[in-house]
Amino acid sequence: MQITFAAKSENEGFARTAVAAFVSSLDPTIEELADIKTAVSEAVTNCIIHGYNQRGGTIWMEGTLTGRKLRVSIIDEGRGIKDIKQALEPLFTTRPDLERSGMGFSFMEAFMDTVEVESTPGKGTRVSMEKEIR
Ligand SMILES: Nc1ncnc2c1ncn2[C@@H]1O[C@H](COP(=O)(O)OP(=O)(O)OP(=O)(O)O)[C@@H](O)[C@H]1O
Ligand SMILES: [Mg+2]
Repeated sequence: MQITFAAKSENEGFARTAVAAFVSSLDPTIEELADIKTAVSEAVTNCIIHGYNQRGGTIWMEGTLTGRKLRVSIIDEGRGIKDIKQALEPLFTTRPDLERSGMGFSFMEAFMDTVEVESTPGKGTRVSMEKEIR
């Protein structure tokens, strides 16, 4: 699965629903679906707010199913992350002015089995997450 969409908050619902439809052949529970949708929302929101500074841009979403495992990647070509380790810390945010709480990556890690972040300042960010559907 590959989808490209504009980095606008109106598209968060589209991204959540698209990944839910993609994984539906594995017959996930309502709870598993809610976890995946929340994790995808957090990653997409981060692209819109942090990657593109709310000025718009393009977001790519890629998904694969291998056996009962979903892998989904959310990609932007925004400003990137200087210190990934720090960004992953609970409560760390660079935008307290926007009332962000710094919990997005913590939610992704809580709701998915694995979360990988690759980022280059000035080039963009790729967040890849996996979850086994049981
Ligand atoms: N796609 C991205 N591009 C650039 N920076 C990012 C991206 N995603 C996350 N970050 C950086 O990592 C920090 C932590 O992200 P996280 O989602 O955990 O918290 P937050 O977005 O600041 O707050 P919350 O998600 O609770 O609203 C952000 O404040 C931002 O500096
Ligand atoms: Mg966030």
